[in-house]
Amino acid sequence: MTSGSWNDLWSDGKCREHWTKPDPTVVQLVPKLKQERVDTVLDIGCGIGRHVVLLATERFRAYAIDSSLEAAKQCRNWLIQSQLSATVGIGEVQSLPHPAESCDFVLCWNVIYHSTLRGMTEALCEIERVLRPEGLLCLTLNSTRNRHCGLGTEVEPDTFDNPDKIDGQHLHHYSDEGDVRALLSTFRIESLDEAEQGYAGNLLSGSWHWTILARRRHK
Ligand SMILES: C[S@@+](CC[C@H](N)C(=O)[O-])C[C@H]1O[C@@H](n2cnc3c(N)ncnc32)[C@H](O)[C@@H]1O
Repeated sequence: MTSGSWNDLWSDGKCREHWTKPDPTVVQLVPKLKQERVDTVLDIGCGIGRHVVLLATERFRAYAIDSSLEAAKQCRNWLIQSQLSATVGIGEVQSLPHPAESCDFVLCWNVIYHSTLRGMTEALCEIERVLRPEGLLCLTLNSTRNRHCGLGTEVEPDTFDNPDKIDGQHLHHYSDEGDVRALLSTFRIESLDEAEQGYAGNLLSGSWHWTILARRRHK
């Protein structure tokens, strides 16, 4: 398949197949969320909904948002078919419609690095706004160890435009550990792991990402 917009990719059944199982890291986070009595959760860049379906199944008050109309449509259908309740909106991470300090937990899995460094900084500022103080963020970022880092046209340091990638209509920013810590400097990082990701349960060699668990500080 050639590269396409998120709407094109999510319209394709073969592409959707890779995004139907929640990542094990998110599954393993659920007991911690329950222990902390998390109530309101927001999945930003929810795609077709594998994580918001999990969170709604676990009875959290679940919200989700994605900039792609097709993603939101597929996500709503999945929730309806599963007889689950969650509010799914269409919008950008850089300008969320949610009130300040309204979320106990924000999940943002493989989303904000589809941007420039400035776009990522704006996204994190907005995530911080909607999280309550001490609220938890689970975020993934692309690592400079990722096998795609360096391929395509570098539009700014570590940000690449690579139309040969299946999601190559969208930019990819790659971060090293210093970059990750600088981006999250206003948060308190609880854990920072670099690992290859799995898709549909299969580990994809070279798909190095950072997974960060961070807490919003009190102002
Ligand atoms: C790689 S997919 C990940 C989907 C989902 N988080 C998951 O793990 O299954 C990235 C998603 O982020 C969405 N996205 C990209 N940029 C966005 C932005 N600025 N605001 C909101 N959503 C965005 C895309 O539409 C796409 O559905």
